[in-house]
Formats: sequence, structure tokens, C-alpha cells
Amino acid sequence: MKMKNGSNRKVDYGNWVSTKLIVTTAGLACFFWLLHFGLGRIHLLKPLPYLMVEVPKMFCYLSFILCSAGCLYFGVARLLFSEKGGKIQGKIVGLLVDHIAWNGKGRVVDIGCGNGYLAVLLAKKYPGAVIMALDYWKGLWGYSQEQSEANAKSEGVGGRITFRRAGAARLPFEDGTFDLAVSNLVFHEVSQVGDKKELIKEALRVVKKGGAFVFQDLFLARNDYGRKEQLMETIKSWGVEKVYFVDTSKSKFIPFWLRLPFMVGTIALIYGVK
Ligand SMILES: C[S@@+](CC[C@H](N)C(=O)[O-])C[C@H]1O[C@@H](n2cnc3c(N)ncnc32)[C@H](O)[C@@H]1O
Repeated sequence: MKMKNGSNRKVDYGNWVSTKLIVTTAGLACFFWLLHFGLGRIHLLKPLPYLMVEVPKMFCYLSFILCSAGCLYFGVARLLFSEKGGKIQGKIVGLLVDHIAWNGKGRVVDIGCGNGYLAVLLAKKYPGAVIMALDYWKGLWGYSQEQSEANAKSEGVGGRITFRRAGAARLPFEDGTFDLAVSNLVFHEVSQVGDKKELIKEALRVVKKGGAFVFQDLFLARNDYGRKEQLMETIKSWGVEKVYFVDTSKSKFIPFWLRLPFMVGTIALIYGVK
């Protein structure tokens, strides 16, 4: 997501469909097409047994089709997610913000902040909030601490957001440090932890008793979180005061073909009061 703000400086919040993914699928499509073409040529120069050429050629052709379709799919998805296209990324973050029930005064932590889109949104919405936004900035997306800080500064909220490199698996804060904890589409990405529920528990650890939390992730992915009812029971057993579950994957603005499990087909919100 690239936008120009009032001072005409470029703000870049990135896109969940990274260009690396599109370039990789395009590169693979080219590779398989060349291989398919090369096999045909070899066969012309030196005839080989039918199966030795036709089977690999068929495999290369099918792989070419698959990679080309993947490239097109991710390209269109990127456009729809972007601010210049369908704005879906911003709308999905908006679903999280809509579920924050908080008076707006105190300390906030945004776990896995990317380029700081949500942190900046919260800083603008809550002038009384001081925000700690953390990420390990290592993934596919090209997000960085420098760009996050530049974004916050350009948006005029740099003074109230601290960006810090840290991992979601072990948050470098005392128990009960924050009045509000948020996290958007991060937990499923954390490879260091096998049981993703542990990441929710760790995020809740740093929230004050009576503080608020809103997390959005692939909570409908049973491999990661189990059944929704069971997940809610587990969270309640940790002693939170109130917890609610909202299936956000069926939001009207998300087209059906983006509701695949590896896109946003299993997203949901968990929010409540600790
Ligand atoms: C899909 S992006 C979402 C970014 C941001 N929350 C947003 O809504 O735009 C996933 C983010 O999770 C971060 N991430 C992945 N594993 C992490 C970890 N172990 N600790 C902290 N951040 C992590 C990535 O660096 C990336 O910024």
C-alpha cells in the first residue's frame, strides 16, 4: 500500500501478497516453458523413446500452466489488496479496529506490525495512546523498521510509536504491561512455535487485568488452532474476563476466490477483556 500524505512524502505500508511471490511464480512459469520447448528441440535433434520425452514435456507444460495461473492469481490479489485497487487489506485491518473496546488512554502493543499500518491507524484514532509496535522484519514482504518509522513520522505520529525488533514467541515485556494488545495476521507466520495457541497466551500475558485485546489471524484453520469452540474454552481457562469470536472471512468485501485457506479464507477475530 503506497500513499501520499499531506506533506507529499511517500508512505509505504506494503502488501500481504509480496512481489517476490509474483516474481517467483512468473520465473517458474518461464523455466517450465523453456524446459518444455527445450525437450521438444532435443527430440528433433536426437529422437528419444516416446515416454522419455513426452512425459517430461507434459509435466513441464502442466507446471507452466499452474505457475502462470498462480502468477495471475497473486497479481490480481495484490491489486485488490492494495490501496489503489480494492483496498481489501485496509478493510481487513479496519475489521480489527472496529472491535476495539477501549477508552483510548494508555499503552498499546502491536505484535507483528509489518510497516506499521495498524500502529499508525491506532495512533491517529487514539491521541492519548502510546504505542509499542514490534516485528522481527525478516519475512517475504520486505517490511522494515526504517520504513515503519518513516511512515509514522510522515503521518505525524512518530512521537507516539516506538518500533522495536522482537519476536512474538517471547515478548520482551513484563506481565500486564499494556492496556491494549493487537495483532493482525501474524501468529500463523511464527515458525518458532508449534502450538499457535501459545502465541495468543503470550500476547495475553502482557495485557493488564481488565485491559483489552483484539487479534486477527487464521483462527478458522483447524490444523493451527483446533475447533473454534475448543479454542474459546482454552482461552477462557486462562482466566480472561470476556472473549468473543468473529468469523471475518465471510466479510462481503472479500471476493469468494480470495477465500482460499492460503489467502484470507480462514481469518477470524478474537477479542475481549482480560
Ligand atoms: C502478513 S504480515 C502482517 C503485517 C501487519 N500485521 C499487517 O497487518 O499489515 C505478517 C507479519 O508477521 C511478522 N512476523 C512473522 N513472524 C514473526 C515473529 N516470530 N515475531 C514477530 N513478527 C513476526 C512478519 O515480519 C510480518 O510483518
